[in-house]
Amino acid sequence: MFPPKNALTICFAHVAYQMKATFDALDTGIHSFEVRDRETFDRRAPEADVIVVSGMWHNGLIPLGTKLSFIQSIGSGTDQFDKVQLAARQIRLASAAGVNARAVSEHAMSLILALARRLPEGRDNQARRVWRGMISDLAQREDELTGKTLLIIGLGRIGGRLAQLAKAFDMNVIGFRRDPAGGQGAADSVHTLADLHQFLPQADFVALTCPLTPETREVINARALAAMPRSSYLVNVGRGGCVAEQALIEALAQERIAGAALDCTVDEPLPTESPLWGMPHVFITPHTGGETRKYEGNVIEILLENLNRLWRGETTLFNQVV
Ligand code: GLV
Repeated sequence: MFPPKNALTICFAHVAYQMKATFDALDTGIHSFEVRDRETFDRRAPEADVIVVSGMWHNGLIPLGTKLSFIQSIGSGTDQFDKVQLAARQIRLASAAGVNARAVSEHAMSLILALARRLPEGRDNQARRVWRGMISDLAQREDELTGKTLLIIGLGRIGGRLAQLAKAFDMNVIGFRRDPAGGQGAADSVHTLADLHQFLPQADFVALTCPLTPETREVINARALAAMPRSSYLVNVGRGGCVAEQALIEALAQERIAGAALDCTVDEPLPTESPLWGMPHVFITPHTGGETRKYEGNVIEILLENLNRLWRGETTLFNQVV
């Protein structure tokens, strides 16, 4: 039985977000507490009926959360949760898919523009007080996006909006999704991942906006990178694991693709010894694609919707995962 409102305790677990303050401002009367480090999280997990969490989650919390019956993910991706174990313990899980769709799609578009306009190089030159001269070599010069082809892997809420933004720049947009019957949205066409390799040679940009699933793990591998043109760029705002990172490092080192903009990497934070840090054609943002000042409020809207469904005894959650 899901506890009634007056007996419910929510634990907000996030290193930085102001989840509890935003929740308290709504004056719901629901009891909650906030944790910001792993030790306190583990110690206080037994008090929580509901946990609102993303990166701080570890599956060791499943046995610790003795009262736990619902997890509201703060993130869109839920790859860190052991869904089999959660289902066995009858702990429900809902994602926050959609809360950062505007932010991530805008981030992806910014990365595409930054690569085309060579903004990272401009910033590097600024730090060195260098006013770069004009360039004869067309392959090295800033470029425009009109007529360029963008492949979007994952045409969900984020990829779908990226398609809209890219169309505003007159790009050709080819989308890939698990079920093309889900629609092409603003993209010019939509295909399954099985057809990806056929389209890679046309790409000027390949953007990963997909979750990490068995199907998307290392979807950009050595073979995919070899199929991309030398002049093309990879943009990853999905998950690091969607790319075979060593193969990417080799492709970049051998200039088999023109560059990459990465908002996520296999290990996060990216280890200081990773060669990616020092590569001239790599632009890294520290998994900030989803950051927005609206984040807390957007998640709490989904949390409250799901709490209301649980109190009404409904079996289907909003953004249900388990
Ligand atoms: C961010 O990466 C998320 O999954 O929301």
